[in-house]
Amino acid sequence: MMNKETVLIIGSSGHSKVIIDIFEKEGKYEIAGLIDDFRNIGEETLGYKIIGKESDLSDLNLKNPHWKLFIAIGDNWIRNKVVNRIIDKIPNIEFASAIHPSAQIAKGVKIGKGVAIMAGAIVNSNTFIGDFTIINTRASIDHDSEMRPFSSLAPNATCGGNVSVGAFSAISISATIKHGISIGSHTIIGAGSVLLKSCGDHLILYGVPAKEIRKREAGERYL
Ligand SMILES: CC(C)(COP(=O)(O)OP(=O)(O)OC[C@H]1O[C@@H](n2cnc3c(N)ncnc32)[C@H](O)[C@@H]1OP(=O)(O)O)[C@@H](O)C(=O)NCCC(=O)NCCS
Repeated sequence: MMNKETVLIIGSSGHSKVIIDIFEKEGKYEIAGLIDDFRNIGEETLGYKIIGKESDLSDLNLKNPHWKLFIAIGDNWIRNKVVNRIIDKIPNIEFASAIHPSAQIAKGVKIGKGVAIMAGAIVNSNTFIGDFTIINTRASIDHDSEMRPFSSLAPNATCGGNVSVGAFSAISISATIKHGISIGSHTIIGAGSVLLKSCGDHLILYGVPAKEIRKREAGERYL
């Protein structure tokens, strides 16, 4: 029987509940517990205990150097801040990816570290999925596309082939991105939109067809 690795999940919100389910179904990792600065040690989520705060991670890592981390935070910018803080303190820490067994991952796909791919998602041939990205429930991204680090597809977002999603950008719930489109970094495509033209960095676009609505700073809330 294959020996399971151990993963420690950072965050205990709704997003981390989905991640717990993926790790249980994947069967590759034992979950050591959850880390959450805003909850008390011993509280539980879906049967797993909060075992510390972010400030306890260095100690936990010294005692368990083989544990991997998963950063279960849905907001792209906040996830990046937490990853950077942790790497600063524990440079050698390793990050697990969580890939639901019902996700379809085609030939030639490359998947980075710290990635979440939810139930029913489809990543088609030769697509590059960068570090710490999220491909949410039933989202799809077609052939020869790329998701730059810390970008995300919300549930049911659909991207055609040869699409590029820039770093920290988010394709919101049920949005559709035409094939061959390039989206800059820190850009949000609003819920239910249909994006037919490439767009730049730091923008909010929505509508059918999607139009530029306004500029956006890095880290502005979108969820
Ligand atoms: C794009 C987005 C970030 C815009 O948020 P916002 O700037 O706070 O916009 P507001 O909610 O203040 O809405 C402002 C106006 O724009 C409209 N609007 C907002 N998003 C829209 C969209 N996607 N399509 C059409 N109209 C939209 C609102 O209806 C509102 O119109 P009103 O002034 O006539 O009432 C947000 O709509 C969105 O899509 N968030 C992501 C949600 C998501 O994917 N969640 C999944 C979590 S897993």
